[in-house]
Amino acid sequence: MYRRIDNTFGIEAKANRWLEYRSEDELRRIVPTLQGEHVLHVGAGSNLLFTKDFDGTVLHSDIRFVSPVSMDADSVWVRVGAAIVWDDFVAYSIANGWSGAENLSLIPGEVGASAVQNIGAYGVEAKDLIDQVECINLSDGTRRVFLNEECNYAYRSSIFKHELKGQYAVTYVTYRLKKSFVPHLDYGNLREQLVSNPSLNAAAVRQKIIEIRRSKLPDPEELGNAGSFFMNPIVTREQFEALRVAYPLMPYYDVPNGVKIPAGWLIEQCGWKGRTLGRAGVYEKQALILVNRGGATGEEVVRLCRTIQQDVLNKFGIEIHAEVNLI
Ligand code: EPU
Repeated sequence: MYRRIDNTFGIEAKANRWLEYRSEDELRRIVPTLQGEHVLHVGAGSNLLFTKDFDGTVLHSDIRFVSPVSMDADSVWVRVGAAIVWDDFVAYSIANGWSGAENLSLIPGEVGASAVQNIGAYGVEAKDLIDQVECINLSDGTRRVFLNEECNYAYRSSIFKHELKGQYAVTYVTYRLKKSFVPHLDYGNLREQLVSNPSLNAAAVRQKIIEIRRSKLPDPEELGNAGSFFMNPIVTREQFEALRVAYPLMPYYDVPNGVKIPAGWLIEQCGWKGRTLGRAGVYEKQALILVNRGGATGEEVVRLCRTIQQDVLNKFGIEIHAEVNLI
């Protein structure tokens, strides 16, 4: 039986089989039936681009659970089921007076994917909050708990996305939150935007981030997209210095392994912002976001992606890579 795969890009794609499980035990019972099949574990489909139908089984978690599991003087550890909508968890944590996740407000997707993608925004990444990740091995059904330091977290990257890709399903994530508000306001002009607020707290930061995101990022209900399509490239300091001579206004961020350049700026400089190729396009307000202008196929989006990658390489000598998973 074919089943349509939900995805925020609004691309038509089907799977041979769609299986949803509500508990670790139910997943363990499913595991033997998966052997020898192509398996794709999806969350909300907010970071996927389908270029064809999926010839295999799509797995989706329906594990819903949120509860604090321990506390000390300044922290609380909250265990969350993989199927909980990420932003519902952020709202829940703020409603309980716990801070840490507010800068990640309104990021689409589910809790399981937050641990795989290491989602991030406004100077905070999921890895800064994750204490441990509970998983089931999809080959033999065994359970394994990965401590944060075992997840090899880096910018939009983890062991689950690379070394162990497709091998484990995340069932629960435990996050460590703060009982009192610790602001992270160093990204862009966030501090300036909030400084006039006399009672700055996590709820106020969440409100501002929601406002910024709504003003810049397209709503997938109105315009299919998967958020940032590309990762921001990290170049060597020598490459950066050479580029800065030619482009003194280029924005950049120093990072431990080099200099991060906003891909949105590179794409805009290549004249792509707001342009369309076939039925796929580059969002008018944020060049890092590719959109489905209506009825686009995955191949059309890939053609746009490759054309942009080539133009950025030709103009700047920088390779940019997709953040979105191409299936
Ligand atoms: N810029 C341009 N033109 C554009 C877009 C951006 O010149 O069309 C410039 C901006 O002026 C700014 C810089 O690029 O100087 C950075 O822009 P922005 O703050 O919008 O952030 P970003 O680097 O484009 C990243 C994340 C976003 C996250 C924001 C805020 C990645 C791949 N993307 O975008 O994450 O919300 O920072 O932290 O790292 C996502 O992953 O889906 C996502 C939306």
